[in-house]
Amino acid sequence: MSVIGSRTTHVCCRPAEEGGSGDSSLHTARGTLAALGAVADEAFGSPELAGRTFGVIGLGSVGAHVARLLDRAGARLVVTDVNPATRGLAQELGATWVHPDDALTADVDILVPAALGGLLTARTVPLLRCAAVAGPANNQLDEPSTADLLAARNILWAPDPVVSSGGVIHATGVEVRRESEERLSERIQGIADTLRQVFHLARTRATTPATAASRLAERRVREGHPSPTRTAAPAPTS
Ligand SMILES: NC(=O)c1ccc[n+]([C@@H]2O[C@H](COP(=O)([O-])OP(=O)(O)OC[C@H]3O[C@@H](n4cnc5c(N)ncnc54)[C@H](O)[C@@H]3O)[C@@H](O)[C@H]2O)c1
Repeated sequence: MSVIGSRTTHVCCRPAEEGGSGDSSLHTARGTLAALGAVADEAFGSPELAGRTFGVIGLGSVGAHVARLLDRAGARLVVTDVNPATRGLAQELGATWVHPDDALTADVDILVPAALGGLLTARTVPLLRCAAVAGPANNQLDEPSTADLLAARNILWAPDPVVSSGGVIHATGVEVRRESEERLSERIQGIADTLRQVFHLARTRATTPATAASRLAERRVREGHPSPTRTAAPAPTS
């Protein structure tokens, strides 16, 4: 980002010493954890993460933070990465290590993709053994219709643009909106509220969370709606 920032000002997440908001990965992970609470609530009737089993695929910048935060919350962990150096973290957390090829079929409550996109396809969805999929990896569905395959298997999918938004909320909050860290923490926690809204919309409109999230986003853009955590501010009177 430093290098890109030498050619254009349209850059977020440069190092703090260069006036940027720094590495976004912890904030993405914090948002993911908030999202996982909402997912657990929708799938199991309780937002409690302790005692639930999470399959974290990818222990890179975001995945390692997610694994640590889940461990701290008392969750059970099944983890994988193609980089064998990450096994040290698995050992440190007492997590069960699986081969990357076996991660999708691991018997877990919630699968947490934190590596590459395109993981959910017509070939892989029938293999899943989890109740829900929710993680920060971008573009998890290979194509929009894969959301229907997940729904047909009764597997709850949390749209990744919502789950992974903590990093961008933090970066734009610091660099564009000039918000305080306290305010930003509230907004990152607000990802859970947004996701609850998405799930509610999907349930009441008999559609998938993917479609519900798109509709919600379109509506917010059209109507200029603030995010749920910003509704506490008084509405403009004019
Ligand atoms: N960094 C952020 O703030 C941020 C924000 C939003 C979304 N995301 C998304 O989250 C995902 C992870 O981002 P990151 O910044 O942690 O990247 P990263 O490169 O630091 O970590 C990715 C990890 O996944 C592992 N990996 C790659 N292929 C794998 C496979 N097939 N099976 C298992 N592990 C595999 C890599 O070895 C690496 O450790 C990406 O999809 C990214 O687009 C990241």
